[in-house]
Amino acid sequence: MEAHRSDAVSDQTTRPTIELDHHGADYRDRWQEISDGNVVSCPVAHTAAYGGTWVVSGYVPVVEALRDHSVFSSFQDHTDPSGPMRGTSNPPIAYLNVPQELDPPLHTVYRRLLNGPLSPEQSRRREPFIRQVTAACLDRFTEQGQADLVTELTNPVPAIVTLGILGMPLADWERYAGPIHLLTYSPPGSPTWTEAMTAVGEMMAMLGALVVARRAEPADDLVSVLATATGDDGELLPLDHVISTAGLVVAGGVDTTTALVSHALHWLHRNPAERARLIADPALLPSAVDEFLRVLAPVQFMSRTATRDVELGGQRIAAGERVMLAFAAANRDPAAFDRPAEMRLDRSPNRHVAFGSGVHRCVGAHLAKVEAVVMVEEILRRIPDYVVDEHAARRYPSIGAINGYIGMPATFTRSPAVGATFPVSA
Ligand code: HEM
Repeated sequence: MEAHRSDAVSDQTTRPTIELDHHGADYRDRWQEISDGNVVSCPVAHTAAYGGTWVVSGYVPVVEALRDHSVFSSFQDHTDPSGPMRGTSNPPIAYLNVPQELDPPLHTVYRRLLNGPLSPEQSRRREPFIRQVTAACLDRFTEQGQADLVTELTNPVPAIVTLGILGMPLADWERYAGPIHLLTYSPPGSPTWTEAMTAVGEMMAMLGALVVARRAEPADDLVSVLATATGDDGELLPLDHVISTAGLVVAGGVDTTTALVSHALHWLHRNPAERARLIADPALLPSAVDEFLRVLAPVQFMSRTATRDVELGGQRIAAGERVMLAFAAANRDPAAFDRPAEMRLDRSPNRHVAFGSGVHRCVGAHLAKVEAVVMVEEILRRIPDYVVDEHAARRYPSIGAINGYIGMPATFTRSPAVGATFPVSA
């Protein structure tokens, strides 16, 4: 997909402008207030930050852009680093995320390989495995009366589950989850960002070796599905794209679900009546998880590039301009949700865009929801009176793309281990 910068660049004197540093501490601390302001007063506005981008905050224009992939392209063109096609991250990342940064028809080739293994049915089928991993993590600390809920539960469970689905050694989870965690919360250009990029490079090399091994000797796992798949021409898919797809499943599978469940546990700590309600009625958990996704906004932004001049939400966007879609803000749009700031665990309907929409809608959404339900359910069953140490809990220094916690120490009434062991494979 190509876009050429339009000569008729939108009129810079009349377009609404805002100041928004989505990687900054101010945005991290006031994102609800900032998002609410943008939704009401400038649902489509331009900011000069990060080389200039439109910021789309209204629910209707966000959905419109997500569903029109030919005009709002996800493509990142590494052959032309100074060109406009800069993919879905802002600032762009140094490598191509497949399939997220491809447009159809090439996107479809990779996406269809993921649809089956991550389908609603397959995700439900994995529930016992997810419950076993969760129980084994809980067994490590329920007798202690204290734990870090992020480092000891919400980080390892999604990482181990994702590695299991891919067919990677489960004991390696920290080697993958560590760099991804660091990369998502490090502001671009910071020393930890550089450190994380190096570690991610090493991680991709390990993944590459595994893909090559599975191509030669396939097993019953997702890496083998990817490694042995052929394109429309009957040829094996290019190794770099296959490795990138596996890498994105690791990245997508790890930090996002961690962020969702960490925020949910924090919110339930602060809202004891709602916690009691969920303990009394666990059947409410699936709809509660959707409402946690909407209100707590684990993934806040994804970007696109306009491939032609287009009008969106009454603003004229020129070909080649960057467009940042604010899922967090769209999910707080009062035109789409009744009293959007209110957490209603039984909200229905709840057409949030926390997983995006259109062809790139999160392929891991079903798995993420099963993981979140199981983790919250098991915590509420085994350490129902947990109290978060608010002073010691540490949020990510930057939201950027993901709104997460680095750590969340908590205390609770001790309870016996149940004798759960870590599975050796999924
Ligand atoms: C709470 C958990 C999660 C959230 C909030 C989330 C959010 C998202 C969003 C918003 C997108 C759309 C990106 C775009 O439009 O550019 C996406 C795509 C994606 N997610 Fe997730 N995600 C979650 C969990 C997962 C899991 C568990 C996996 C895999 C195991 C995963 C893998 C992916 C992949 C591969 C894509 C790219 C899909 C495509 O381009 O077709 N995600 N995710």
